[in-house]
Amino acid sequence: MADVGVDESLLKGVAERVAGEAAELVRDAWEGMNRGRVVRVDTKSADTDVVTAVDHESEQLVRARLAELRPGDAVLGEEGGGDAGDGVTWVVDPIDGTVNFLYGLPWFAVSVAAQVDGVSVAGAVVEPVSGRVWTAARGQGAWLDGRPLTTSAPERLDLTLVGTGFAYKVDRRLRQARFAAGLVGRVRDIRRNGAASLDLCAVGAGWLDAYVEHGLGRWDWAAGALVASEAGATVSLPGEDPALGPDATYAAASSIATPLREALIASGIGDV
Ligand code: IPD
Ligand code: CA
Ligand code: CA
Repeated sequence: MADVGVDESLLKGVAERVAGEAAELVRDAWEGMNRGRVVRVDTKSADTDVVTAVDHESEQLVRARLAELRPGDAVLGEEGGGDAGDGVTWVVDPIDGTVNFLYGLPWFAVSVAAQVDGVSVAGAVVEPVSGRVWTAARGQGAWLDGRPLTTSAPERLDLTLVGTGFAYKVDRRLRQARFAAGLVGRVRDIRRNGAASLDLCAVGAGWLDAYVEHGLGRWDWAAGALVASEAGATVSLPGEDPALGPDATYAAASSIATPLREALIASGIGDV
């Protein structure tokens, strides 16, 4: 479907509402867990790649609410799968940062984005514990709790703070660690915060100057990358910049984007 007629503001409102309701469910489960309630945990691609009963419940809630509010739209969710549709497709990560969630580290979120032809047009990333709400609409901007976001503007590579992440598969994370070892001497420091959607939002807020990770799922970046780009970041999505490797997601404050990209390449990012 051509995206003529897409109402980004309306879709942003739906994303915010639905992600907010799921975040309440996740927050209640988190509080229950902190009081000793046991949460069922299964594994996926590796023993370290976990999915909890709360991930499934959150995604079910999002799907049920989207069916009411946006009947006929397609849904692609991390846990329940799905395919892109001809019109709007909702891309859902019911808990991004599940390992943090399990350990009691409050950096995790519900991420809901609306895409048309594979391009994000609106999204919301909601943090259950802090209640922070990150939103963006294509061409209109990005917001944290309703306040407009702009990226940082570092002038020097050696003063640039870079977020990243590691895959669950051991062979790939070892290659990522070799690349990170090459990068860490060229930049201010590296952060591995554990929730890709929020790391991308953090670039939008200037809490990170840049973020790069290989092998993200569409649900990891669909809302957060829109927040970063609408806040002014230079963003490249998986497959768009082969010099960064086949499936890198990259977001950087535009002031540093070109030298940082060169430093990533010099650090061996293409071999990850
Ligand atoms: C993961 C987190 C993590 C990133 C992984 C993702 P999940 O998502 O975003 O920060 O490094 O690549 O898979 O499994 O917690 O939804
Ligand atoms: Ca995720
Ligand atoms: Ca997830």
